[in-house]
Amino acid sequence: MHIDVNEKALKEGETVDALLTELIHTKKLDLLLIAGDISNHYLRSQHFLEDLQQSAGIPVFFVPGNHDYWSKEHDVKDTNQVDAYFRSKKESLVEKPTHLNDEWVLVGSPGWYDYGYGNHEKYTEQQFEKKKYKFASWNDRHYVDWRKSDVTISQQMLEQLRKDLTAAGDKKIILMTHVATHPEFVVSLPHRIYDYANAFLGAKSYESLYQDFPNIQYSLMGHVHFRKTYRDQERTYLAACLGNKRHWSHKDVRTQLIKTLTVIEI
Ligand SMILES: [Fe+2]
Repeated sequence: MHIDVNEKALKEGETVDALLTELIHTKKLDLLLIAGDISNHYLRSQHFLEDLQQSAGIPVFFVPGNHDYWSKEHDVKDTNQVDAYFRSKKESLVEKPTHLNDEWVLVGSPGWYDYGYGNHEKYTEQQFEKKKYKFASWNDRHYVDWRKSDVTISQQMLEQLRKDLTAAGDKKIILMTHVATHPEFVVSLPHRIYDYANAFLGAKSYESLYQDFPNIQYSLMGHVHFRKTYRDQERTYLAACLGNKRHWSHKDVRTQLIKTLTVIEI
């Protein structure tokens, strides 16, 4: 959603909170899922979630995105501390499979990129680890510090997801990650920039979850700044990203929210 970056696109008197509340009521939603990147400050992101629930009167569930973890506007440099903060909040789905009813369960994790979607014929693992190569730079390198490698954190989050998905048993699952976990949701290669940058869009190793857990009926993702629904025989994959106002043809938050919000009926 990037509510901070998109703030300048709001009309006088508008707030994202109020616009979204109006939309939630119009669509008669029972709950709202947000797949991360609310803002560049963890407190602002969390307060947004709390205020929105207050104004809309429905539960809102969330997994943090890389921007919610950013330490650009505060001094908490250890990303694990920001992660612990989000985990302590009821809105976070991380390690908390949430049963919606007798049939459906929500399972979530930020997920972390494992460079798997980058072009490994063109770049080495070390070049991806640097998160900067000539013209391309991935800004997480300045503002996210897990104190371990991206591949390690990606694997740890994958293992936790496996536990949570196993705990869901035979129920139908709505899986929500921040990063892309399906090749349809990264940029097609070859591409001048994305041969490199695709490495940071998704976690290719997470594709294994779809084989191992056929009861995943919906797979929701954030992170990529486009909106897309893809269906195969097994399930529906969905990215419903408000994105950054730079990418909007029509610079109006209300219109973009209406275009973005996707309703799932269960
Ligand atoms: Fe992101």
